[in-house]
Amino acid sequence: MKILFYDTKPYDSMSFDAALPSYPEITVEYLKTDISEKTASLARGYDAVCLFVASDVNAAVIRALSDAGVRLILMRCAGFNNIDMEAARAAGMTVLRVPGYSPEAIAEHALALAFAVNRRIHKAYIKVRENNFSLMGLTGVNFYGKTAGIVGTGKIGMAMCRDCHGIGMQVLAYDKYPAKNAPDYVKYVSLDELLSESDLISLHCPLTEETYHMIDLAAIEKMKQDVILVNTSRGALISTNDLIAGIRQYKFLGVGLDVYEEESENVFENREDDILETSVTARLLSFPNVIVTSHQGFLTREALEAISRTTLDNAASFAAGNPIQANIVS
Ligand code: NAI
Repeated sequence: MKILFYDTKPYDSMSFDAALPSYPEITVEYLKTDISEKTASLARGYDAVCLFVASDVNAAVIRALSDAGVRLILMRCAGFNNIDMEAARAAGMTVLRVPGYSPEAIAEHALALAFAVNRRIHKAYIKVRENNFSLMGLTGVNFYGKTAGIVGTGKIGMAMCRDCHGIGMQVLAYDKYPAKNAPDYVKYVSLDELLSESDLISLHCPLTEETYHMIDLAAIEKMKQDVILVNTSRGALISTNDLIAGIRQYKFLGVGLDVYEEESENVFENREDDILETSVTARLLSFPNVIVTSHQGFLTREALEAISRTTLDNAASFAAGNPIQANIVS
């Protein structure tokens, strides 16, 4: 089994190189460039390609991969909204992913964003470096005794419920398919009730046609004054323009975003010398109560190890003619 990796960063190759000795039947080659219609042809002679969240796996890319003889796409991530699955099915391409690697990694990042934006750690860090020891503008709230609203209680959402319970918060949850074995401290409510009762709202459901822009102006209007909103799931769960309108109306104590619309051009790239062509990111960054990180929720050693192991298990199982059913994207 020969795999060509696209969009490879040093932390990817390090974790895969560490896992590879356990898979003697697999050889890999790493490319820095991401996949496109043009670069897909580089995969000729390989059995599989390995891609990540920011890759645009559209119909033309799938056709080019199929023409190059590739039969398998290995996603080294959970999400697959960036793949044209209809085109993949039509080309007879198998897509395997890593459905859950370290839910705690993403939940802890969501919590880190909530803590940081609440206590204005991003501003305090800069101020103290400039010998400005004034506390003006840094007032936050206690989370203890407040209410967390968790939207989507799958693997990551449930880890976030545990974390919020652990710091003494009441936990409200909304899920289209509530978990049957949820702990007693998780109280399922309607989305409207969650929006109107929560002091901290954290999004953990997938991006689908149904959840696209689930946080729009109408949803923001239902929220409590001085709510903290965190999104570590997918950018388009929130309408950015509506969010900006809400921020301008002083609705939010804080907003923490690990994902945002139009992030694809930026994700994992150093663009410090670029003049950004869209103003949405710049506008978000201009607000004192907003923290944006660049899709780094997954970035812990434990998560990287789990991603490489499952991706290589996926490749080995496909090569053995028995792909891991639970990891197939259909
Ligand atoms: P999961 O599949 O375990 O859980 C998703 C939950 O959302 C399920 O309980 C499902 O019933 C619920 N859901 C589905 N449709 C819904 C709707 N319309 N309304 C409310 N809830 C709905 O997924 P997991 O592993 O917890 O991941 C959640 C999301 O986190 C992924 O979809 C992905 O977008 C994102 N993610 C972000 C990462 C990052 O680095 N920031 C890394 C990994 C995942």
